[in-house]
Parts: sequence; C-alpha cells; structure tokens
Amino acid sequence: MAGEAIIRQAGSDDLDRFFAYLNDHLLDNGSGATALFMPMARAASRFGPERESAFRSACASALGQPGWRRLWLALDNDGGIAGHIDLRARPEGACAHRALLGMGVQRDARKQGLGARLIAVAAAWAASEAALDWIDLEVLSVNLPARQLYARCGFVQTGETADMFRIDGQALAYCFMSLALR
Ligand SMILES: CC(C)(COP(=O)(O)OP(=O)(O)OC[C@H]1O[C@@H](n2cnc3c(N)ncnc32)[C@H](O)[C@@H]1OP(=O)(O)O)[C@@H](O)C(=O)NCCC(=O)NCCS
Repeated sequence: MAGEAIIRQAGSDDLDRFFAYLNDHLLDNGSGATALFMPMARAASRFGPERESAFRSACASALGQPGWRRLWLALDNDGGIAGHIDLRARPEGACAHRALLGMGVQRDARKQGLGARLIAVAAAWAASEAALDWIDLEVLSVNLPARQLYARCGFVQTGETADMFRIDGQALAYCFMSLALR
C-alpha cells in the first residue's frame, strides 16, 4: 500500500533497480488512460544507457555543482519502488538558486496521496538547503493529474508555450510552474 510506503533519499546502490522501475514506468507514457507525461514519442519512451550513466554521475555531484541531482524513492512493504521524485540543477548559468523537479508514481500506487508526500519530502529538503530558493518544473499541458497535484502542493503556473512539441502527430503545449521555498 502506497499509504505505508517509506520515502528516503536514494543511494548509488539503488540506481540499477530504479532504472528498471523507470523504464517500466515509461511504458505508461501516453498509453491507455495515462496522459503523455514525457515529451517523447510513445514507441521511444525509454531511458537508455547514456542517460543512466549521466544520471549516476549527477547523483554523485555536490549541490551547487553544474548538473547535480538528488533522487528520493518511495518503497513499499516489500521494498518495491512505488514512486520517485528528483531535483536537479537547471542547465542555464546563474540559476544555482533554482532546482528542476521530476517525478512519477507507479501505476498501482496512484491516487493514494503518494505524489503529494513525495513533493513534501523533496520540498522540505530543498527548503533546508540555503542555496535553493525555488523549485521549477515543466509539465505537458495535457497532463492534468500532474498539474492538479502540483497546484495543490503550492506550485504556481508561470507560463505556457503552445505547440512546444509535435509528438506522434499531435501538437502539445508545455506548462511552466514554480514553488517559492521562502
Ligand atoms: C501525476 C502523478 C505523479 C500523481 O501521483 P499520485 O500519487 O496519484 O498523486 P496523489 O495521490 O497525491 O494525488 C492524485 C489524486 O489522487 C487523489 N487522492 C489522494 N489520496 C487519495 C485517496 N486516499 N483516495 C482517493 N483519492 C486520493 C488526490 O486528491 C488527487 O486528485 P486530484 O487530481 O483530483 O486532485 C501520477 O499520476 C503519475 O505518476 N503519473 C504519470 C507520470 C507523471 O505524470 N509524472 C509527472 C510528469 S510532469
């Protein structure tokens, strides 16, 4: 049950099974009742070895270093991954006071409050880091479950770009949201 899941920061030992979980999670991208949530074509929704290796070194980078990243996992009673959230450096210079958020909840664990719990944990960590003042995120405008969750957790929409992506023959808008940490 996701309600009983514990949430903790991931270590390097967790990453192999995290990547396996993530690739399973990406099978949901725009499939069936799930909105497209990653700007990737449905058939190409995979996290390949190059991205895995970049993710691994980003998790080992100190906060404030270019390309830093931190990952938290929600683990169910059996130790299975029920959800994840990560914060990472923005790619632009002069943005060290901002972090970018990404997240997901395993398909059987959704709508039990786990998404909100994951955001609370990541936001509390970010607020405790004096160097960080904002969490930003980018979400496909069609992804209403995610946008509603973010709004409920205090994120404010700062902009929207129409026709940002053309994926599988569909024009998709991208929505930008931010949470002030102090
Ligand atoms: C978006 C996503 C992360 C939300 O995670 P979640 O764990 O389902 O989030 P929550 O349970 O906290 O909230 C989702 C809904 O469930 C409802 N809910 C929460 N606890 C509940 C409970 N005990 N019983 C019934 N409903 C509940 C919430 O009120 C919310 O409803 P709303 O959307 O009408 O406001 C999840 O749907 C997901 O992983 N989607 C695919 C990946 C994705 O979109 N990632 C984000 C990319 S930007």
